[in-house]
Amino acid sequence: MNIDIGIDADKRNEIAAALARVLADSYTLYLKTHNFHWNVTGPMFQTLHLMFETQYTELALAVDLVAERIRALGVPAPGTYRQFIELSAIKEEDGVPKAQDMIRLLVQGHETVARTAREAFKAADSANDQPTCDLLTQRMQVHEKTAWMLRSLLE
Ligand SMILES: [Fe+2]
Repeated sequence: MNIDIGIDADKRNEIAAALARVLADSYTLYLKTHNFHWNVTGPMFQTLHLMFETQYTELALAVDLVAERIRALGVPAPGTYRQFIELSAIKEEDGVPKAQDMIRLLVQGHETVARTAREAFKAADSANDQPTCDLLTQRMQVHEKTAWMLRSLLE
């Protein structure tokens, strides 16, 4: 059946492509955060191990919402590591960073998703796509708050 929600196919494809970047960034940041949860060491182990768990759990739920919004717009959602590597603006690390570097890398990761979501918002806003704008606003709020909390550990 045709999709008749008041957003034409070109716009839906454009928004879905922007959301695919948000999804890829979020999934890459999810894996990075889970990796750091496993591998963090040092005097802040307990704090960071638990903080990273809270953060990756939130990200694991968020990727589902982003992917399902892409589907509601009538477009397949990317779901392979190969696609995520191609689409993501967040790079992976080699080896195990020191705890302080993990925090810095996660700040950068959350800031990157916030920027990608802000870009995607423009496409959604110009197409009068309020549900996507709402989702992206919530994602920016979470990523900017989490970046602040992580940044505060470095002061
Ligand atoms: Fe665990």
